Amino acid sequence: MNTSALPRHVAIIMDGNGRWAKKNALRVALGHRKGVEALRAIIRESSDIGIEALSLYAFSTENWRRSPEEVEALMGLLLEYFTKEIDELDENRVCIRILGDKDGMPEKQRQALIKAEERTKNNTGLKLNIAINYGSRAELARAARILAEKAVRGEIRPEDITEQALADELYTKGLPDVDLLIRTSGEMRLSNFLLYQCAYAEFVFPTVLWPDFDLAAYHEALAAFGSRDRRFGGRKT
Ligand code: FPP
Repeated sequence: MNTSALPRHVAIIMDGNGRWAKKNALRVALGHRKGVEALRAIIRESSDIGIEALSLYAFSTENWRRSPEEVEALMGLLLEYFTKEIDELDENRVCIRILGDKDGMPEKQRQALIKAEERTKNNTGLKLNIAINYGSRAELARAARILAEKAVRGEIRPEDITEQALADELYTKGLPDVDLLIRTSGEMRLSNFLLYQCAYAEFVFPTVLWPDFDLAAYHEALAAFGSRDRRFGGRKT
């Protein structure tokens, strides 16, 4: 594959697990489990081809509204993932960061997420960001609140609140902006994911359901990105 025009930061909305389960006459929990298999391969490939940062939308603040059975299944999968797969991720020098409110998670999951971040924080390989209990508007409101508190304490003046100052209070602090956003299953929405960070992202919407998103589909999305003419609001002469 041509790696000359690779995105630095890829974000993925892994959509379609429910429809995949329905299509295969399986329970929704099995669709999510199959979704974890797909994400394992995409993480490995991203690491191998030298993607700098990969951000995955695993659980939104709105996902709590799903049935108790489905929420429980997702919580179980998250716990399993962050306990069973952490050795391999660490060996591959993957640096894990959780985007979202860990304090709003059940205690066992909260501990596992903190542990995974702590254990891999000095790793120099792929920056793997997993959005859990995440909503972009909540993230922006939180950043505004932190800046307001600093201003009230007299640590900053209103004119110090620049784009950079705001970006530095987001969960994605220090990461490059998203270059490529992929949403599977044919849906074409951002669904409150990385609104600020996607300001100049290229969007690709493959119709394949997430559990069927394989390396060929990933390469296709990366190739589509490579063929885009990115101007960032300017004009090419
Ligand atoms: C969207 O499909 C997917 C989700 C809400 C959850 C994504 C989670 C995983 C792939 C597994 C957990 C992640 C980790 C990191 C272990 P949907 O259920 O909304 O699909 P539908 O629109 O077809 O119903």
